[in-house]
Amino acid sequence: MKTTTHTLRKLKNQRPIVAVTAYDAITARYAGAAGVDLILIGDSVGNTLLGFENTVPVTLDMICHHTAAVARAKPDSLIAADVPFAEAHYDFERILGACQRLMQSAGAEAVKIEGGAELAPQIHRLTDAGVPVCGHIGLKPQQVYALGRYKKFGQSPEEAEAILADALALEQAGVFAIVLELSDATLARRISERVKIPVIGIGAGPDCDGQILVCTDLLGLTPGYVPSFARAFAAAGEEYRRGFEAYTQAVRNRTFPSKPEGAATAPIPPQATGV
Ligand code: KIV
Repeated sequence: MKTTTHTLRKLKNQRPIVAVTAYDAITARYAGAAGVDLILIGDSVGNTLLGFENTVPVTLDMICHHTAAVARAKPDSLIAADVPFAEAHYDFERILGACQRLMQSAGAEAVKIEGGAELAPQIHRLTDAGVPVCGHIGLKPQQVYALGRYKKFGQSPEEAEAILADALALEQAGVFAIVLELSDATLARRISERVKIPVIGIGAGPDCDGQILVCTDLLGLTPGYVPSFARAFAAAGEEYRRGFEAYTQAVRNRTFPSKPEGAATAPIPPQATGV
């Protein structure tokens, strides 16, 4: 059954919400088939798949391109797309236009916006306009150049109060969920208990209403580095390596293609990547 923002909200206090990033149709199909509740086309596509150092260079065009690929997989998971760097800080018409493209052209069913109390008035106007918005507070990776580094948030009492105020402002603005990134775990529990909407943590400890991981981290595809808060639940990178090496060997020593493989007699189905 299709997950909606409504069903996601109802999961709070019932069971943990499962969220992952995905950027293409194949990954979205696997994630959807596994029962993932929320697929995020995160701007982490920049540093995971596209070879950028961080999320700042990722544009609206890029997010739309990857969102459309995920949407074509038609997963039962709710499909949310990131509003990229700076886009949410222009005037309201531009933000609304970005959300319109993500939802009307690319096929997103919701958007995620990095920002807290400072963006709450704009987010309120978006939710009034019928745009389902997921907030994103704690570490906001789009601010990496302003911050100078990635760091954990909410360890000082002042910072913890400010992040709680962000969560409350976003709830008031009508967001259907909040992603809380790299937060002190005690603060994450406090926020999850305080707001009525789901809080989905990443590097925010076990007491959030759900968890989100970047798909390349959880699949073991991130070359050489998995963040300390993530877990590789599979070793897909190792499988890729084995597959490419075996193919290279087989072509070089002429064991591929075999006679029947070389004949290509069977018709190729139009949808050859079905999970
Ligand atoms: O872009 C992304 O992948 C994200 C997650 C880290 C939540 O925003």
